[in-house]
Amino acid sequence: MKAIGYTQHLPISDPRSLVDITLAKPTPTGHDLLVNVKAVSVNPVDTGTRRAGHGTLAQPKVIGWDAVGTVTQVGSAVTRFHVGDRVYYAGNYKRPGSDAEYQLVDERIVGHAPKQLTDAEAAAMPLTSLTAWEALFEKLHIATDQPDQNANHSILIINGSGGVGSVATQLAHWAGLQVLATASRPESQQWVRAHGADHVLNHRQPLPAQLHQAGYRYVDYILNLSHLDEHWPEIAEMIRPDGWIAAITENRRGIDLQKLTKKRATFAWEWMYSKSWYGYDLDSQGAILDRMAALLAAGTIQCTLTKTITPLNAASLRQAHALVESGHMIGKVVVSGPWA
Ligand SMILES: NC(=O)c1ccc[n+]([C@@H]2O[C@H](COP(=O)([O-])OP(=O)(O)OC[C@H]3O[C@@H](n4cnc5c(N)ncnc54)[C@H](OP(=O)(O)O)[C@@H]3O)[C@@H](O)[C@H]2O)c1
Repeated sequence: MKAIGYTQHLPISDPRSLVDITLAKPTPTGHDLLVNVKAVSVNPVDTGTRRAGHGTLAQPKVIGWDAVGTVTQVGSAVTRFHVGDRVYYAGNYKRPGSDAEYQLVDERIVGHAPKQLTDAEAAAMPLTSLTAWEALFEKLHIATDQPDQNANHSILIINGSGGVGSVATQLAHWAGLQVLATASRPESQQWVRAHGADHVLNHRQPLPAQLHQAGYRYVDYILNLSHLDEHWPEIAEMIRPDGWIAAITENRRGIDLQKLTKKRATFAWEWMYSKSWYGYDLDSQGAILDRMAALLAAGTIQCTLTKTITPLNAASLRQAHALVESGHMIGKVVVSGPWA
């Protein structure tokens, strides 16, 4: 089968940073589906993983954690899917990724692809949807079915225009919250307004002053989706007493939890791979993806795809990695088939 991988951790401008390769097609066992991949998306985890490390790998590494495709074979324990089903998923950090013509993935972390979406549109959604959903509804404990109660509560989403933020602003709005989101450029500010933000703040300027200008002293929830170290002092200042904070980006320096002591505020991490990494609660990811597919099909949540590159090969994937590495993506970039 065709695949895209690397053996050296090179800058994306180097043609050898991602290369076309040929691998044996895998065989599914147990709960695995064998999926014929039709489109993939690129996330910061792809570029970070590709660049991290030294030396030359003995075998090419295939990464990629966002795909849509068709089930072509199933393992003996599979119950939720059949051959021919169209599926979408983010996958497992420990296993070979979606940048391959065929991929094995555990059915429990897979969703039925949203019917009304094209392959490129569906591939844009899984990883960011799982991250935003788990952060809001599992780690911040916001209720999905109490819009009247949530209407009295506010959330600040730092980095509202990136892949995760574009889903999180929509889900927070759908849950009924007052949504404040950050974006620094006219086009990204317009994007977050169009995706559910009631107020837009600029993360390149001090945030507490802008929060006050928007009519808030504190917010009930803060979801940090970028540069945690940089934003931490402001987060501690803006969260209300007994408020909840969740973050998805690891800090490079120590963060001072003591800043939350007097406010008794709660801090939680979200890592989209935790469940598959430690092997618990896998079915919840399949359920989230099915729920998101229904919201996308109904038009309640908009697809966040902004850029499609074809065909599926190393040259296209290098373009997509370069865009994500810029750090200024609005929404999502997808590389779509056919495989070439
Ligand atoms: N823990 C998890 O499970 C998980 C899952 C997904 C992603 N992540 C991590 O979360 C981060 C965001 O992911 P993503 O896919 O949403 O990224 P992304 O799409 O690449 O985010 C791009 C956006 O980041 C904004 N940005 C840049 N610098 C910023 C700053 N200092 N403060 C606030 N926003 C800033 C940019 O806005 P402007 O250009 O307007 O400044 C841009 O629109 C990445 O670090 C990623 O690795 C973690």
